[in-house]
Amino acid sequence: MPHQKTTSIDQYAVFGDPISHSKSPRIHRLFAEQTEQVLEYHAQQVPAEQFKQAARDFFALNGKGLNCTVPLKELAWQRADELTERARSAKAVNTLKRLPDGRLLGDNTDGAGLVKDLTVNHALSLTSATILILGAGGASRGIIGPLLEQSPRQLVIANRTAAKAVDLAAEFNDPRLVASEFAALKGQQFDLILNATSASLTGQLPNLPTDILAQNGVCYDLAYANSATPFVCWGKAQNAAKSLDGLGMLVEQAAAAFYLWRGVYPETASIISSLNAERTNH
Ligand code: ATR
Repeated sequence: MPHQKTTSIDQYAVFGDPISHSKSPRIHRLFAEQTEQVLEYHAQQVPAEQFKQAARDFFALNGKGLNCTVPLKELAWQRADELTERARSAKAVNTLKRLPDGRLLGDNTDGAGLVKDLTVNHALSLTSATILILGAGGASRGIIGPLLEQSPRQLVIANRTAAKAVDLAAEFNDPRLVASEFAALKGQQFDLILNATSASLTGQLPNLPTDILAQNGVCYDLAYANSATPFVCWGKAQNAAKSLDGLGMLVEQAAAAFYLWRGVYPETASIISSLNAERTNH
């Protein structure tokens, strides 16, 4: 639904398709309330072919910042006039900020959000860890750089279509980064397994060998849902020390975007707790 009005209140939004279940408006309104910032934030369904026009209209009507989600992150990356380093390496943008001269800065806060959720909210150290990323699409690309910054021992990217994992690993050109196919994971042990495939969105599970999670290992699904995703259930069946979904990452990537826009960093723990409390069967 187009949201067009002339207003002096700073406007923010999330664009995506589908978008009706997005928690971003709720999260950003809670941040604004907590930090006493005056702003409005809405969700807008924008199919890829309408992105350019919708973004133009939004920024013409006092739009100050935009979040972009599936399937728009690459288009937002193309649209940005300037990119942060992490958006450049991710080749995807989840946050656009209107600069004072009207140009658009593109950032990607997904990887930082994931790392903050893992290392701060869940107190996990990634230093020297052996990490497996499932999937070689946009979601994986966005988290590789920030994960490598945590000094893991090894980062394996495994994908159903193995050639895509090989291409993605080659792009980052880091000796700790290795590509694999799912079947070849058998016999290996990982401290952390991250599901960055889109399988959870369709209720599916990547076809993984069992026994690849180290003792005290952790599973993390970048997707989130009101009830446990198939991958979160898989992690529990593998006796993971923790099997988490991406709600914490969602709140943390939003906090980093809010900071880019407003210059204040919201407190996230209380917001993650209240969103968690509203979920059933988790
Ligand atoms: P995103 O931007 O969300 O990462 P994408 O670029 O379309 O989306 O990538 C989707 C990823 O999920 C791919 O790695 C895809 O594997 P393929 O490259 O083999 O298609 C993976 N994926 C989707 N459904 C899957 C499933 N049921 N099992 C395993 N992998 C799946």
